[in-house]
Amino acid sequence: MRILLTGGCGFIGSSFVRMALARGYSVTNLDKLTYAGNPANVAEVADLPGYRFVHADIADPEAVAGALEGVDVVVNMAAESHVDRSILDPTAFPLTDVVGTAVLLDCSRRAGVARFVQVSTDEVYGSIPVGAFRETDPLAPSSPYSASKAGGDLQALAWHRTYGMDVVVTRGSNTYGPRQYPEKLIPLFVTNALDGESLPVYGDGQQVRDWIHVDDHCSGILAALEHGTAGEVYNVGGGNERTNLEITERILELTGRDASLIRQVADRPGHDRRYALATEKLRAVGWAPEVAFPQGLSETVGWFRANREWWEPIKSGAYRAYYEAQYGRRSAGGSPA
Ligand code: NAD
Ligand code: DAU
Repeated sequence: MRILLTGGCGFIGSSFVRMALARGYSVTNLDKLTYAGNPANVAEVADLPGYRFVHADIADPEAVAGALEGVDVVVNMAAESHVDRSILDPTAFPLTDVVGTAVLLDCSRRAGVARFVQVSTDEVYGSIPVGAFRETDPLAPSSPYSASKAGGDLQALAWHRTYGMDVVVTRGSNTYGPRQYPEKLIPLFVTNALDGESLPVYGDGQQVRDWIHVDDHCSGILAALEHGTAGEVYNVGGGNERTNLEITERILELTGRDASLIRQVADRPGHDRRYALATEKLRAVGWAPEVAFPQGLSETVGWFRANREWWEPIKSGAYRAYYEAQYGRRSAGGSPA
């Protein structure tokens, strides 16, 4: 069976490519190679017979139609994925996460694919003070990123209702692991700590995220692809709730640094306080997360320690300009936006 995976040169996509190939799927990886797409992430599998790469935008109908030839199922992971970038400049987010998803859905419908998996996020639900979100809860996204992802998510469900297309949506929680772009909390703080640079904690640092290892997120997406029911949504959560300050302190321990590196900076505008997911629905089809958070975090820190040649080039050039725009005013107590 051949999967058309979009965004396979990014963080989760590059782990998904490895897992899918190991399970016997063939994979066509369609990726635009934005700042977050890195061919080095898939270099290990690039010469395997089942793997093919297409350099294209999911919003380009001709390129997508060509890439769909011989494809059985589609997994749409391509997205602009960083909340803080969406606050600085939202422009790119609806273009890929809404318009691109619509183009991909419609080309896939016309090509008659057997199933379309839309990789969505727990951020579409918004914030929850207590308890955990279920798949039937209403969507209330807070950021330009999560609003765009909600658009993609709802379109996928609409393509099922309107055209009878076989669509499944996954809503994953905060993911960590190797090859994550060092703009997100864990890889940013790990690489900063390894370099002895400050760790910019937003606000009081008591915000809660539900962390899942990238391999568990990928096995959840595969479980939804293989065993999900058409038209249904599946939460993919790790069940590891931690405050940002807890994560920060653990990273300091694992990198041999102390709390003097912590810098409390201006909060993220519209910052969701807490995410938590109920995952019984996906567990009922046989999925369960396997990576214990303390071990997964320790191994992730070990990966960044051992792979400086991967992240040092990323944290230069355009990244420095982004960092200055994101954290410059914030460090002085001002809003980034
Ligand atoms: P990422 O930013 O690391 O990678 C995104 C990939 O998509 C890159 O390779 C990029 O080049 C590609 N891409 C972007 N725009 C494209 C376009 N128009 N056409 C083709 N390719 C394009 O993202 P990630 O963290 O790996 O997230 C992957 C998916 O999972 C996203 O849809 C995201 O919303 C979702 N998700 C992420 C998390 C998380 O914690 N990282 C959690 C839940 C859901
Ligand atoms: O919940 C799923 C989502 O998780 C995905 O859909 C997104 O693609 C992914 O980026 C992630 O979004 P978050 O905004 O939760 O992740 P991020 O790593 O950016 O931030 C995690 C928490 O850490 C959040 O409360 C903000 C805080 N933070 C983040 C950064 C980058 C800081 O305190 N300082 C920072 O410098």
